Amino acid sequence: MAINTVLHTRSKPMTEEIRQLKQAKDAVILAHNYQIPEVQDIADFTGDSLELARISTQVKETTIVFCGVRFMAETAKVLSPGKRVLLPEIDAGCPLADMADAEAAQKLRAEHPDAWVVSYVNTSVEVKAVTDVCCTSGNATQVVSNVPTKKVIFLPDKNLCWFVKHRVPEKEIICWDGYCVVHRQFTEDDALKAKALHPDAEMLVHPECEPKVQELADGVYSTSGILTRARESESSKFIIGTEEGILYRLNKENPEKVFYSLGPPRACYNMKKTTLQSVKDALEKGIYEITIPFDIMRKAQVSIERMIQYI
Ligand code: 13P
Ligand code: SF4
Repeated sequence: MAINTVLHTRSKPMTEEIRQLKQAKDAVILAHNYQIPEVQDIADFTGDSLELARISTQVKETTIVFCGVRFMAETAKVLSPGKRVLLPEIDAGCPLADMADAEAAQKLRAEHPDAWVVSYVNTSVEVKAVTDVCCTSGNATQVVSNVPTKKVIFLPDKNLCWFVKHRVPEKEIICWDGYCVVHRQFTEDDALKAKALHPDAEMLVHPECEPKVQELADGVYSTSGILTRARESESSKFIIGTEEGILYRLNKENPEKVFYSLGPPRACYNMKKTTLQSVKDALEKGIYEITIPFDIMRKAQVSIERMIQYI
């Protein structure tokens, strides 16, 4: 028997247990596009950061099991403080989010009192509390164009900042020096090789990729933006420059199209921590519940809700 057949047979009863627990605990499961296929399949909704933030405000269940990384679960908690939000893996963090801290952000802000601070949602809730408005990869350009000041401090991703700078030239943008450890592994050389190998393929990349990679791409989108473009495009072949988890949905939703990874597939270690077992444990034991001090919550609410209003 092939290994994947063994895994499938073993995981089948667990998916059933999760469905029953979900009902018993009045829970909904949200999963990011980078989660492992089994977790995406058991989720009620799969999406990018913006879609999941929006959905978290619309679901009727009293518990949200957030299969993603900590900042995403924190965002859901801030938007729905009355709900119980569970992160199945306690240490599913985001190294990019860890590259900005509230104290340093405040210091920079004090040096530029005429600037608004725009933070990518890939930040801690403490950083969001000292932020004027948040954004995601799906709405960063729109958010920055709408801020009332000419000067903007953008954190923490310098590549997304570069992407926004080129699309909103009327703003004076100060970029923080952070980056995603996964997306930086896609190199210009990878992009050139992939294009030479598949000259008729459309190249779609995430704005966390380096500028040189973005420049070679046919389109730069959030993870769900990549899914939409792949669905709507007339091309039949695509080169994809983002975390490998998205290939599962791309292939499932477009069986007649072909998807190549831009260079070797790159995995986000933190996104891959969540398993069916940890989802089941989360539901059964009510772990790990996201709690946020009241004062931080109140301040972070302003920047996240402003984002939702701006778009
Ligand atoms: P998306 O909002 O585009 O899904 O991106 C989240 C993320 O962490 C990308 O690395
Ligand atoms: Fe963070 Fe990068 Fe992983 Fe996204 S892919 S969660 S930015 S480390």
